Order: sequence, then structure tokens, then C-alpha cells
Amino acid sequence: MTLLRVARQAEVGEGQKVIKEAHGRKFLLVRVHGTVYCTDAHCFHMGTSLAGGDIEDSGSHACIVCPAHRYRIELCSGKKIDRKLDGAVCASADQKQRIYEVHPDPEFIWQAGQWSAVHPVTTASLYR
Ligand code: FES
Repeated sequence: MTLLRVARQAEVGEGQKVIKEAHGRKFLLVRVHGTVYCTDAHCFHMGTSLAGGDIEDSGSHACIVCPAHRYRIELCSGKKIDRKLDGAVCASADQKQRIYEVHPDPEFIWQAGQWSAVHPVTTASLYR
């Protein structure tokens, strides 16, 4: 497995969103309840930067809310989370945000694998 060092742990404080760039691609790092998540910096829907998105709780997992069209994206899976009129939560089965595995390390944040080698090309690949 290829590991890509994308930041120091100290650069991403609790609740912070940090953009990093590597191999010509921008990533968003988010720390929620001590866990660092890594995703493409741009929304899979129409490419809006997620840096200005709010962090919310979907009921079981943290989500980032895209500032453009308010899609709620689960940070651990990349699924689009919807809330039905009765309050029930459901996840999209089709398109989703590209999420990267974060390798645990006390000093650095390592992303597992380079995007082009590990992840299939999707509509999200259009947005860098
Ligand atoms: S661009 Fe993100 S929800 Fe539309």
C-alpha cells in the first residue's frame, strides 16, 4: 500500500477543515471527535469546494454539508445522506464523494494510496 504524507497532525485541529494538495489533486482534511477524515476537496455533485461546508452529525456519523446545494456527505463513507420527512436517515446508493483511508500515526496524517491508482474515475474526478 502506498502512503502519501499529506499533513502534520498539529495542522488539523478539532473541527477544522484544511485543504492540502498532492499529485495535482486537492484534498480536504477534517478532524471530528479526534478522527481525521480525508476526501476530495471538491463536491462530487458539481465541484464546489467543501472547505466552507458545515460539519453535522447524521445520527451515527459525521457529515460535511456542501455549501452549494446542501448535500450532506458522510465523511466515513462518502455517501450522500438524506433526511426524509419523517426524520429517518437514508443514504444514496449511486454516486458518492471519494473518501481516502487515513493511516494512523501520532505525528503525520498519511493518506493510503494515490487517488489515481486506487480510486476509479468518477464524475468527482473532473474536479481538482
Ligand atoms: S455542488 Fe455540492 S451539493 Fe451541489
